[in-house]
Amino acid sequence: MKSIIKGAIGTIAGETNPISFKFLIDKDVGRGAYVKAKAEGREWILAQVEDIKRSNTAFNLNQQNGSARDYEAHEMMVAEARVIGVGIEGRLHMPTSPARPGEQVFFADEKLIKASLGLSKGDMYIGLLKGYDLRVELDANTLVQKHCSILAKTGSGKSYTSAVILEELLERKVALLVIDPHGEYSSMKEPNRVGDFNRYKIKPRGYDVTVYTPTTLAVNPRADRPFRFNGTNLSAREMAKMIPHEASSGMVGLLYETISLLTAETDVYTLEDVIEQVVKSTSKVKWNLVSQLESLMEIGLFSGIPTPIGELLRPGRASVIDMTGIQPELQGMIVAKLLTEIFEARKRRLISPGMVVVEEAHNYIPERGSGNAASTGIIRTIAAEGRKFGLGLMVISQRPARVDKNVISQCNTQIIMRVTNPNDLKALSKGLEGMTSDLEEEIKRLPPGTAMLVSNEIERPVTVSIRPRKSRHGGISTMIVAKEDRSSIKGKGLKPQPPAKSSKPKEKIGGGGLLKKVFSRRA
Ligand SMILES: Nc1ncnc2c1ncn2[C@@H]1O[C@H](COP(=O)(O)OP(=O)(O)OP(=O)(O)O)[C@@H](O)[C@H]1O
Ligand SMILES: [Mg+2]
Repeated sequence: MKSIIKGAIGTIAGETNPISFKFLIDKDVGRGAYVKAKAEGREWILAQVEDIKRSNTAFNLNQQNGSARDYEAHEMMVAEARVIGVGIEGRLHMPTSPARPGEQVFFADEKLIKASLGLSKGDMYIGLLKGYDLRVELDANTLVQKHCSILAKTGSGKSYTSAVILEELLERKVALLVIDPHGEYSSMKEPNRVGDFNRYKIKPRGYDVTVYTPTTLAVNPRADRPFRFNGTNLSAREMAKMIPHEASSGMVGLLYETISLLTAETDVYTLEDVIEQVVKSTSKVKWNLVSQLESLMEIGLFSGIPTPIGELLRPGRASVIDMTGIQPELQGMIVAKLLTEIFEARKRRLISPGMVVVEEAHNYIPERGSGNAASTGIIRTIAAEGRKFGLGLMVISQRPARVDKNVISQCNTQIIMRVTNPNDLKALSKGLEGMTSDLEEEIKRLPPGTAMLVSNEIERPVTVSIRPRKSRHGGISTMIVAKEDRSSIKGKGLKPQPPAKSSKPKEKIGGGGLLKKVFSRRA
């Protein structure tokens, strides 16, 4: 038998093949560890421990325990390692021949891991390779141009991770537009106060963020400014799309008729002018239409002084459209119109390139059969064509199975955090090349703040401990039952408790008064 080389952690044993080998463990080694062994005695093979098995012949199932006195001598630990590749001239190749039984196995050094996995191709620092002190760095251009998705169950750290990426992008002067349904991103203005900043070697800081509200500052006081669409010269088609109830064909006809009358008389008309003109009509549906147009006007979303579209994409700044207090259907319409304007302006190079971030994407791009949203079409277009025009997309969702597959499949960087729902896991497997049952098991067990990163830039999926945010996290869940009262619940039934203090803004369930009025009629 070969003598054990210093630093060896085990010896390859049994049958091997070019993609896997087993080794008898001499030293402590855990699941997920990166190891190396010599291939044909020349190059190092990099492999990852996928499983560890412990057995003891003194405790075989078909044997009495009588012979167990010296059981320690019979114990065997075997690690199953999957070959990642052989690094030759800075590139990773799969070996053509299997590792040789009897060769010794070592912990892979960080240099080999970094070079073999391609962890340092970029400069965006998103975290450390799980269990190592190795930075995982992505290329900002690839991430933006080729789109990115973050998929995981609720509470696993999607918004936190997305903010980490946004911080890195802002530091690289990328322009960001965030569709924020829960008002979580305004906290990016402030520095973070909690996190292991020393281990991850980062300094807390705030960023240049402007929060817009499509409703009023009275409904959403957290916002810095209102967001307004141009309310002049709206076409009949645009109005028909935006009015809260689906317009009947009679109403659409009356809209076209009204607009053509107005354009014959004047160069500039407002929503009020349209309403005045409709009132003069003799149509039977005129009052219905008037009521809908008035609702549209009351929202305040249309104005003679619209938000300049170029203001929303500015290098190194994030514009957050905070949807708090707005009913879902209207959110879809706002996103549809806003992103269409952004995309058209970008096509004509009128605004800066940048990235659009869509939080809770299942609401804005639902998979067929999971709902409808007016925004689906334009988000699909950006996913398919945005790259040509310098418009990137990041989609975030807690329900992978309910998000439009066309969009997800366009995302080259995929960040997957904990997922346990079988339908969601199935949806992920479909979209991921090389998804094995081991990988699926790993996804089910990922702890919060840990992500599996799949990207063309990286040779194979890697597990990353996402770094702490530099800016404050805004997505803190509200405690429904105060901790100290949990014990008293046992056997006594649930007593209602006041919610604990939270920095997460209270979500407006019914929306603002006017918005509620507009949409309650549809129900
Ligand atoms: N990398 C991390 N480091 C430290 N804490 C983290 C990290 N990621 C997540 N957390 C913690 O987990 C909590 C939940 O994270 P987050 O709000 O991002 O979840 P989520 O997946 O977006 O949930 P939801 O689906 O409800 O929006 C955060 O409040 C934060 O405290
Ligand atoms: Mg979230």
